[in-house]
Amino acid sequence: MKYLFMPVITFVLICTLAYDGVPRPARSLRAIADERRLLIGACVSTRHLQANEDYRATLANEFNSIVAENDMKFHRLQPRKGEFAFGNADRLVAFAKENDMSVRGHTLMWHDSVPAWLKETAWSKEELREILKTHIETVLERYKGKIFAWDVVNEAITDEGEWRESIWYDTLGEDFLFDAFRWARETDPNTKLFYNDYSAEPVNTKSDRIYALVQDMKENGVPIDGVGFQLHIRAEDELDVESIRENIRRLANLGLEVHFTEVDVRIRKPVTEEKLALQAQRYRELMELFLSEPNCTAFLTWGVSDRYSWIPGHFEGYDDALLFDRAFLPKPAYEALYQSIEQN
Ligand code: G3I
Repeated sequence: MKYLFMPVITFVLICTLAYDGVPRPARSLRAIADERRLLIGACVSTRHLQANEDYRATLANEFNSIVAENDMKFHRLQPRKGEFAFGNADRLVAFAKENDMSVRGHTLMWHDSVPAWLKETAWSKEELREILKTHIETVLERYKGKIFAWDVVNEAITDEGEWRESIWYDTLGEDFLFDAFRWARETDPNTKLFYNDYSAEPVNTKSDRIYALVQDMKENGVPIDGVGFQLHIRAEDELDVESIRENIRRLANLGLEVHFTEVDVRIRKPVTEEKLALQAQRYRELMELFLSEPNCTAFLTWGVSDRYSWIPGHFEGYDDALLFDRAFLPKPAYEALYQSIEQN
């Protein structure tokens, strides 16, 4: 019988070892970030915020900024034409206010998260333009003064550097992007406007195209304040820090800020202490890079704890990408981020 339990016991032991949180420092990550006027945030789901006290406490103690993981996407805010549903987004904004946190907005326009009513009709260019304009104006009006930066357009360029097919691009053409930024600026002149994308952090085909796009916007007076680097990365991949730096600097030369918007460092299972250490190293590299470039102005992780994460649903065999484990204990990645802030 004891042989039957051996694998179970070994597994539990391995898990316990891997998830034994690092010592919690006397002062929180938020405290040291606040002191240095650093914006450090995490994406949040209203569902978990309402259900889990550890989740709320970790957010409020350790971060000074939040972004909605899903609750401000088009399909959530306008599930039926002309009928806006602000309940969950409002709850996030209220939580931020209660805890003296800033809020990033994500996202006004994306090929994904398009509601069924929008997908199912063949809209004319004029009709779709009007729908987009109304959406942007309604949302920005509601959160005027409450959201410091918006991802106006998300993921509009493919890895090959082409326009991505979407209901927006296919019907409205390239102008869709410029119009969206103009309407956003007209409605809330004080919120910062961002273009946000993934796999475009180092200099590569995709980031070259994004650079050309934002350069064109700057030259033609289309309002834009920054570019979001999502930074969904794998612990096992080396980070080309100098290439990312080069990209950050060319954007700085255009007068643009860079936000690290969705940082997570996923680990191929099984999780081991070595892999957690490698993950910590990646977080350290990212934070050191972030701190060394003056136009990098916000650092947000895509989630709070490994208990809730989009990773296992999207990348088979990977998980545990965040700073806190499933019991909300700080991981080596937390310690690395903490130390790199403290030492810089
Ligand atoms: O809420 C429903 C639930 O009611 C239903 O039972 C369940 C069944 O599948 O689905 C739930 O919705 C899921 C939602 O996440 C909330 O968990 C959706 O299916 C799922 O598609 C959705 O995935 C989100 C994804 O964007 C697509 O919107 C992820 O949580 C979210 O982390 C991810 O975030 C994106 C950023 O917006 C843009 N950059 C990439 C990033 C990661 O993909």
